[in-house]
Order: sequence, then C-alpha cells, then structure tokens
Amino acid sequence: MDLRIKSFDEYKEKYKQSVDNPDGFWDQIARSFIWRMPYHTVCEWNFEQPDVKWFLGGKLNITENCLDRHLEQRGNKLALIWEPNDPKERFVRWTYRELYEKVCEFANALKAQGIQKGDRVVVYMPMIPELTVAVLACARIGAVHSVVFAGFSAMAIADRVNDAQAKMIITADGLNRGAKQVPLKRVVDEALTHCSSVNKVIVYNCLDWSPNMAPGRDLWWHDAVNGMAKECPAEEMDSEDMLFILYTSGSTGKPKGVVHTHGGYMVYTAYTFQNVFQYEESDIYWCTADVGWITGHSYIVYGPLLSGATTLMFEGVPTWPDPGRFWQVCDKHSVNQFYTAPTAIRALMACGDDHVLSYSLDSIKVLGTVGEPINVEAWRWYHIHVGKERCPIVDTWWQTETGGIMISGLGNLSPMNPAHAGYPLPGIQPVLLDQEGNEIVENGVEGYLCIKHPWPSILRTTYGDHERCRVTYFSHYQGHYFTGDGAKRDENGMYRIIGRVDDVINVSGHRFGTAEIENAINSNKIAVESAVVGYPHDIKGQGIYAYVVCENIPEDQEVARAEIIETVVEHIGKIAKPEKIQFVSGLPKTRSGKIMRRILRKVAEGEPDKLGDTSTLLDPQIVEEIVSGAL
Ligand code: PRX
Repeated sequence: MDLRIKSFDEYKEKYKQSVDNPDGFWDQIARSFIWRMPYHTVCEWNFEQPDVKWFLGGKLNITENCLDRHLEQRGNKLALIWEPNDPKERFVRWTYRELYEKVCEFANALKAQGIQKGDRVVVYMPMIPELTVAVLACARIGAVHSVVFAGFSAMAIADRVNDAQAKMIITADGLNRGAKQVPLKRVVDEALTHCSSVNKVIVYNCLDWSPNMAPGRDLWWHDAVNGMAKECPAEEMDSEDMLFILYTSGSTGKPKGVVHTHGGYMVYTAYTFQNVFQYEESDIYWCTADVGWITGHSYIVYGPLLSGATTLMFEGVPTWPDPGRFWQVCDKHSVNQFYTAPTAIRALMACGDDHVLSYSLDSIKVLGTVGEPINVEAWRWYHIHVGKERCPIVDTWWQTETGGIMISGLGNLSPMNPAHAGYPLPGIQPVLLDQEGNEIVENGVEGYLCIKHPWPSILRTTYGDHERCRVTYFSHYQGHYFTGDGAKRDENGMYRIIGRVDDVINVSGHRFGTAEIENAINSNKIAVESAVVGYPHDIKGQGIYAYVVCENIPEDQEVARAEIIETVVEHIGKIAKPEKIQFVSGLPKTRSGKIMRRILRKVAEGEPDKLGDTSTLLDPQIVEEIVSGAL
C-alpha cells in the first residue's frame, strides 16, 4: 500500500482535492487498509460540543494492519531493529513474523491476567523492543494503553493511573540511560501506594536486578508469556473505540489524557509517515524519540509498522559513550530517514563538529525535526554536517492532540526554508486568527494558529472530562480547533511556528504547564506562592525560571533551592527541574490579583528594560525587587 505523493505538483493537486472534498479524499486513502467491516460514513463532526467521528460503522483492529497484513509479503522483512544503550551489547532484529508472534504471545498473557477489551493498562518501560510489544498487545485485545514516559516520578505515575483507573502496569526492573541506571520497579511500587485500581504488575527483566515482587500482584514477563500461544485473534474494534490515552500538560495544573481511536489514528499516521519521510520499501527508518511521547507512538510504532517499514528503536542517549553515538548508529544500520529533536541537535552541535565528521552518513536520504522550533543556526549545522547539504530536512509541526504531523515538508518534494515547518499536509486546513478571532487571510502575517476542519487523528476527548477538551481546544475561537501556538505565514504561504501562546513551556521538546510546576513548588513548605515562566535556553529551547515567594527569604538559598528542586522531581520528574529559582517577597499582581506574567517573562529573558506598562500593578515596588535580584 503505497500512499505516497510523488511530486510537489501532485501535492498541490491532492491538497486542493482534500479541501474541496475531504470525505472523498480520505475515503480513497482509508480504503487501502484492512477493515473487518467497511465504514458507511467517512466523517461526522462539529467543533461546538465537540463531536468528531471518522470512518463510522467501520470495524477493524489496528494491529491487523500493523502486523497480520504484512505476513504474506513481508513476513521475513525486518520490522524492528533495536540498538541498545551500550554499543558493545548485541542489537536485536525482528522480522514482521517474529514481532507478530511476540505480540500475540504477550496479548494472550494479558488476557490470562484478566485484561479485557476497554481496560486501561499503564506502560512504564525502558526503550526496549518489549515496549513496542506491550503497546501492540494491548491494542490487539482492545485494551487501552497509556504509556507513561519512564522519566516521570512515582507521583506523576499515580496521577495518571488514578485518572485512567488503570487495572495493570507493565514495567521493568530498571532501565539503562547512558552511564546511569534507573530502578523503574521501585518507582512503580511507590506509585502504587497511592493507587487502588491496579491489581496486576508485569515486570520485564531488563537488568537482572531483584526487585521486590508483591505476591499475587506482581509477575515476571517471562513467566507471564510462558506457555502462551503465538497466535491471538485480534479483537474486533469500532473505528471510534479508544486505542490509547496519552497524558500531556496544558495550562491547568493537572495533565490531561488525550484520547485517540483505532480508525482515524491508523489512517492518518500511516499516510503522514509515508509522505513526510518519503519512505521506500527497503529503507531503514529511525526516530530517536521515546515511545513515552506522542512522537514515539505515531512515528516509531504505528506509522512505520502500518506501512510495513523497518523501524529502529534506540535505548540510549545522544551523548553516551560519546557525542558521535547517533551518527555511529546511522552508519552501523545504514539509516535512510533520521528524525530527531532540535534540542538534541543543539546539544550535539555544542560538542563540536569532530564527532559527526568521522562518520560517512551516506545512507541518509531525509532528515527530520520535531517538538519545538528549530533555530536557523542548528538547522544549518544539521543540514551541512549531518545531511552533507544533500538531504532535505522536514521540520514537522504537530502535537499530542493532533496525533500526526500537520505542517511539514514532504521528503525532497517540497521547497525548504530554514526554521519553517512549511505547508500543511493534505487534509489539514490551518488558519491564522487575530485577537478577536477574525481570520487573517493574507500572507506575510502572524496570528493564532487554528485548524478549521477535522482530520482523522484529531483528539476525540480528554479522558473522563469532555468539557475540559471543549474549553481547552474548541472554545477560544468558535468553530476552530485552537492549537495554543502562534505562527507566521510568509509571502509564499509557508508556516513558521513561533511557539506557545498559552501557559505551556516547551523544555527540550517536552511540554509542561506552568501551573503544574507551580503546584509542585507550592507543596514545599518554603513556598507561600510561586510563578513559573520559560526563558530562552541555548540547548533546551526553553528553560524553567521559578519565582518563589517566601515569608522570609531563606538565609541559605542554595539549600532552599535544592529542596524546591527535590520537590519538583518528586511530583513530576527530573525533566521538569527549574533551571533558575529566585526567592522573592511577592509577585507582580494586578489589582484583581492576577499575576502579570509578562513582567516575569521579561525579567527571566534578561530584558528588564522592556517591561511595558506597569501602572496597573497593585505594588509596583515588587518589580524593582524582582529586577534587582534577577538571576
Ligand atoms: O509548540 C508546538 C511544539 O510542540 C507543541 C506540541 O507538543 P507535544 O504535544 O508534546 O508534541 C510534540 C511532538 C509532536 C506544539 O504545540 N512543536 C512541535 N513541533 C514543532 C513545534 N514547534 C515548532 N516547530 C515544530 N516542528
């Protein structure tokens, strides 16, 4: 099933078709998948409630499309290559048949442990091939997976488990990350002291550690699969049945569970994978993301496997044992498409060119970036040193909520402009709106990025709280999905994403709500109140700057800072550590008590001379104190 567009002219033609007749356009694409029962209606939607459904009446199982359907022609083709953290260790290569058997076997194990269609299963695992097996096995039996990134803390896991009312957690004894090892099972044990819905924990033996195993609750993966059949009929799912929940941060304190469904997500991830990366049958494709984030879901697991591709999974980090690791893996496995985050590119760029220059990188055809805006300097470095000035770079803009890539170049077909995501994919109708919600139609403008027509993998709801979904995404601008991003459209109609316009900070491509971090900080007794903002960071894109209000400014600020950091790590995880913490006696507030974050942002950005109007402040003096104590 080749869904590829083959020229830029064809793209323009397809784009037009997709706008003129969206249902006809998507119907053509969706037909190439295996449906147990064909859908009767392509799409029904309104953005008011919102209520969006795709491929209504269709029955399918996404794993039949990822696995079974390839067995005849690609049974011996590599589905998955796994490169371990330590380059001295052996890598793993599984064919489509092998992956199929492992998924079936584990699916049977899940059933044997009482997991049924509709049950939620939290997956908290290292980047090992069994993570892919766990995800697909859930989908195969109709259980809803919710992968939690293995850098989150026990409290963060507990929040997600409780929100999803998960029955099971799949984890490992521990994981390798560079020179470090992390005891995952211990973190899960701690989380479970706050959860009552979980009655089974399956533990993969990754490090040969001997974690505590609670009798009756915990069992080893190898014991769970022992004696299980390597065939497992896929559960028949409705197009709109839930496939997974993935928690992501927003402007409020509590992460929300973004819900994606079987039918639409399948069609959109496969279509975008093939087109954006211009994947050809014998290519080896590598996305360096973690399956704990949406990029890993859509473009390590589902998109590639739906397309019969060979997908590479990497356990390690870019800088260990040295900053040439990515390039060594590219040469070792002859990688053809390489997809990573700007933060990784900037980190490697800072380590010097020698680490990349010693590798040939001849096999690479397409490079990609995702997760945050890429600065022109990093783009050039990537283009010159990794792409050797011959590979196109696709700068892919999308979100957890969009399920798949929305604005991006298509391999070598589209014109490129550094730091511009480019043109919308077929089926995507972006618009820029002004403050009042009026559409700005000209080019050479800037505005709030919204989408005015649904696409198959748009989020359906936020788990357990549909009203939150409506308020967050569909209430700002009537009749539009609001992305939370600001964007420019240049004279040629290409989009350049500026960044978030809400209270979300993007640190190394990871999203955090300011309120989420503030809640964590406020739980420490040192803090009376706090306000968190982002500031430009050379490597991470944005760093976290926290203003912490204390009754008495601590005498030993270093100790107090360490304590605050510890609290954030406990509540969320190391990935959310504030870079800078400034202790203050108050925050700049309006007379109505609203924190003026604009002022805090300017101070954090090192531009205290550009604070703008401060006349509406309750206590203007506080600004002087904040400016003079800025870090
Ligand atoms: O601000 C945009 C930024 O990342 C946000 C989505 O984050 P998340 O849901 O975690 O998904 C990340 C991976 C898809 C967006 O609202 N973002 C993502 N890709 C880009 C980007 N900003 C600029 N350019 C991109 N290519």
